[in-house]
Amino acid sequence: MQKAAATDVPVHELIRNRWSPRAFAEKPVPGEILRPLFEAARWAPSSNNEQPWAYLVATKDDAENFAKMLGVLVEFNATWAKQAPVLALSVAHVKTQREGKPNRVALHDVGSATAQLTFEANSRGLLVHQMAGFDAEKARQTFTIPPDWEPVAAIAVGYPGDPASLPEKLRERELAPRTRKPLGEFVMSGGWGHTAPFVAT
Ligand SMILES: Cc1cc2nc3c(=O)[nH]c(=O)nc-3n(C[C@H](O)[C@H](O)[C@H](O)COP(=O)(O)O)c2cc1C
Repeated sequence: MQKAAATDVPVHELIRNRWSPRAFAEKPVPGEILRPLFEAARWAPSSNNEQPWAYLVATKDDAENFAKMLGVLVEFNATWAKQAPVLALSVAHVKTQREGKPNRVALHDVGSATAQLTFEANSRGLLVHQMAGFDAEKARQTFTIPPDWEPVAAIAVGYPGDPASLPEKLRERELAPRTRKPLGEFVMSGGWGHTAPFVAT
């Protein structure tokens, strides 16, 4: 299933076609496909080249690890994410490597790495669905995440599935159109609240 964005102006097809599904096909994602996704994350930009990211990954063929990852998700997410062949958790190093000072942009940089992972995945026919709905403390304990590292987002990866495989409420959301705020609401120029002239309609 495709769910292209109804953009106001044309954008690259990778941007237009990315979306966050909840239905995934049963098809596994082999290691040779997973590796380039994390290679793409690896080459994300980061402040001072800190590369403050780490990923814990669980593939369905490793039932014990997969169950551990599923177990940190909130129930709502677990109901659909259990279909995905790959689950992951992004983690941010929130202190700088050399000086151990707080890294104010660590979460930003991890998000950027995950965006690169997402587009690499999309270019290979895979879809990615990120999740804030997980228990960060449980994740820390389950995976022995060190103190200067913060769990950021859970991530489901897989090939597109059939919306009919979802419970009714989720199926409705799966088929609903994707929506966004207008550009004029968030692209400003000269001062807060002043819409940039090039996006004013
Ligand atoms: C950091 C982050 C956290 C999210 N958390 C959840 C979540 O816990 N559960 C869920 O079903 N979707 C979650 N989403 C998916 C968003 O709801 C989705 O990206 C948004 O509705 C836009 O839809 P689209 O990605 O298909 O364009 C999350 C997305 C991001 C980027």
